[in-house]
Amino acid sequence: MITDNVVWHEPMVKRADRASRQGHNSAVLWFTGLSGAGKSTIAHAVEYELHSMGCHTYVLDGDNVRHGLCGDLSFSADARSENIRRIAELGKLFVDAGVIALSAFISPFREDRRRAKKLLGDDMLEIHCACSLQECERRDVKGMYKRARRGELADFTGISSPYEIPEHADLIIHTDQDSIQECTRKVLDMLLQRGIINDQHLQASTVKDAPAV
Ligand SMILES: Nc1ncnc2c1ncn2[C@@H]1O[C@H](COP(=O)(O)OP(=O)(O)OP(=O)(O)O)[C@@H](O)[C@H]1O
Ligand SMILES: [Mg+2]
Repeated sequence: MITDNVVWHEPMVKRADRASRQGHNSAVLWFTGLSGAGKSTIAHAVEYELHSMGCHTYVLDGDNVRHGLCGDLSFSADARSENIRRIAELGKLFVDAGVIALSAFISPFREDRRRAKKLLGDDMLEIHCACSLQECERRDVKGMYKRARRGELADFTGISSPYEIPEHADLIIHTDQDSIQECTRKVLDMLLQRGIINDQHLQASTVKDAPAV
């Protein structure tokens, strides 16, 4: 990293100041899992709940980020690692800004997630969307599995590229067994346990009314 002639300027307004004004803490909820496992669905459903509780949130979604910040990256192993590195750095800025960021990337490689964890520490909460490959393939939301099976897509996670299951996830949600509402609730409960939100926030939850995204 080229930081020799770069001097850090200490901000006057700190993360703690933002947290106290906003009434909640910040974190990166790092959703990981196969394509079609439900990362985007649950991330957006959780965001909908948090937003309706008055929390400051932002979803970093795989395809969306690749339209801009990561638009120059391919899907090779090196480019995927760089993609995750940028997301982690972005997450760090959101945490400092007092936002609950929700990242929804397959992030298949343990080493990349470990590097993100090294950067973010306890501010990163890893959520494994555990869903069988069979069910993801049955859903085939984007028609990608069919294309991958036909050999049209190289390095497709689960088919021609590995998905390395998290060994120490902060939370596992079984998105092929539990409903979207149940999975959403489990994430909110974890945020309460970790002190990111409080009881009053949760009382304002409309989880029963959360839209099926
Ligand atoms: N319990 C559940 N949790 C999440 N999604 C579910 C659940 N039950 C059914 N689904 C459906 O599964 C699909 C999950 O698709 P989604 O786009 O969220 O996956 P993804 O993990 O973000 O995939 P990708 O990596 O390709 O972006 C949606 O159509 C959703 O409605
Ligand atoms: Mg998605």
